[in-house]
Amino acid sequence: MHEWKIPLYKIYTDDEDLALITKIIKRGNRWAIGPEIEQFENALKNYVGCEYCLALNSGTSALHASLLAYELGKNDEIIVPSFTFISTVNSVLFVNAKPDFAEIEEENLGLDPQLIQKKLTDKTKAIMPMDCGGLSCKIFEIKKQIEDTGLVLIEDAAEALGSSVKGTKVGSNADTSIFSFTGNKVLTTGEGGAITTNSREIYEKIKQIRSHGRIDKFDYFSNPHEANYQGIGYNWRMSTITACLGITQLEKLDKIVKMRQKHASFLSGRLSKHPQIQVPTHSSEYDHIYQMYTIRLPNKIIRDKLHSHLLADGIFSKVYFYPIHLTDFYKNKFSIEAGVLPVTEKIAEQVLTLPIYPNMTVEEKNLLTESIDRFFETLEY
Ligand SMILES: Cc1ncc(COP(=O)(O)O)c(C=O)c1O
Repeated sequence: MHEWKIPLYKIYTDDEDLALITKIIKRGNRWAIGPEIEQFENALKNYVGCEYCLALNSGTSALHASLLAYELGKNDEIIVPSFTFISTVNSVLFVNAKPDFAEIEEENLGLDPQLIQKKLTDKTKAIMPMDCGGLSCKIFEIKKQIEDTGLVLIEDAAEALGSSVKGTKVGSNADTSIFSFTGNKVLTTGEGGAITTNSREIYEKIKQIRSHGRIDKFDYFSNPHEANYQGIGYNWRMSTITACLGITQLEKLDKIVKMRQKHASFLSGRLSKHPQIQVPTHSSEYDHIYQMYTIRLPNKIIRDKLHSHLLADGIFSKVYFYPIHLTDFYKNKFSIEAGVLPVTEKIAEQVLTLPIYPNMTVEEKNLLTESIDRFFETLEY
C-alpha cells in the first residue's frame, strides 16, 4: 500500500466505538439480529426526522431494495444522474429497468430540476437524484417539477447524512432515501447502509426483502418455531457489531461534521486566491458536510496536471466522478455517444477531490495548500 503524506480520508474514532463493540463481543451472542440494530435505526430516524428507518449491509443494497419495494422493473424508465457513483445507476439495471441519464446543474451538482420535465415519457416511473459529496441536490425544486406525475422519488443520499437543506435534514424529503456507511463516508461503519421513509408500506416491504422474504415477530435465531416466508428476499442485513459502530458514530456525527466544515473553510480561504480554482459552495440553505472537498479547475488539462502534481507530492486526490454514461459498459449497452450531457461532461473534466478528514492537522493543511501554490507558480500554459 502506498504511504501517502496526506490520505484522502481518515476515520474519526474514539473509545466509545471500542467500548460498545467490546461489550457486544463479550456478550457472546446476538451478533446477528441483535437489539442494537433497531437501536441504531431509531436513533437514525430521529436524527433525520422521518417515520421509519432500516439498516442494511450497504448503500447499494439499500438502493436495490428500494427499487424492488416500489416494484420498479421491466419496461420502466428511471431518471438518474450520470455524475454519481456507479451503483446509483447499476441498481436500475439490477431490477431490469432502464436508466434515463439526465443533466446536472452547476451549483450543487445534483439533477437539474429545470430539465426534468423534458425527460418524462410514458415509461418514466421514478427519479433518483443524488446528493453529491455531502451537499443536497435541489430536492424541493425537483419535487415541484414532478408534482402530480405519480413518479417515485428515491434520493441517493449515500454521501450526505448530516447535511440539511432549507432547515430539513437530507433523507427526510423524498419518498425513500438511502445512505451509505462505507469506509469513505462521514458516518462510517466500515460497510453499511440504511433507508429512511415515511411510508409504512415501503418499510414493511424492505424489511422482508432485507431478510429472505421473511416476516419475523421475533428474532429468527432466537425463535424455535417455523418462520413465515411471504416473498423472495435476500440477506442484506446489517450485523449487530456494525450497528454498534453506527450508534456511537451517530452520537458524534454533528461534531465530526463541524470539524470537516472548519477544515473546508480554511482550505477555501487559502485556495480562493487562485483565480483558476473554484472552491465548493456552502450556504445557509444548503448545509455542506464535505464528505468530499471538491474543487473545480478551468479544464481537463490543468485538472489532470494538478492531480499528477499532488500525487507526486504524496497527496492523495481523486476525480469524483467520471460520467457513468461514458463508461465502456453503459456506452456500449445503450449506444451512447459523448456530448449528450454537455454540462455533466464539462464538470467531470474540471473536478478534483482533495483530502479532508476530521483530524486533519494544521501541518497537513499547510502541506496541501502550499503544494497547490507551488503548482500554480510553475504552471506553464
Ligand atoms: C452516491 C453513492 N451511491 C451509492 C453508493 C453505494 O454505497 P455502498 O458503497 O455502501 O454500497 C455510494 C457509496 O459508495 C455513493 O457514493
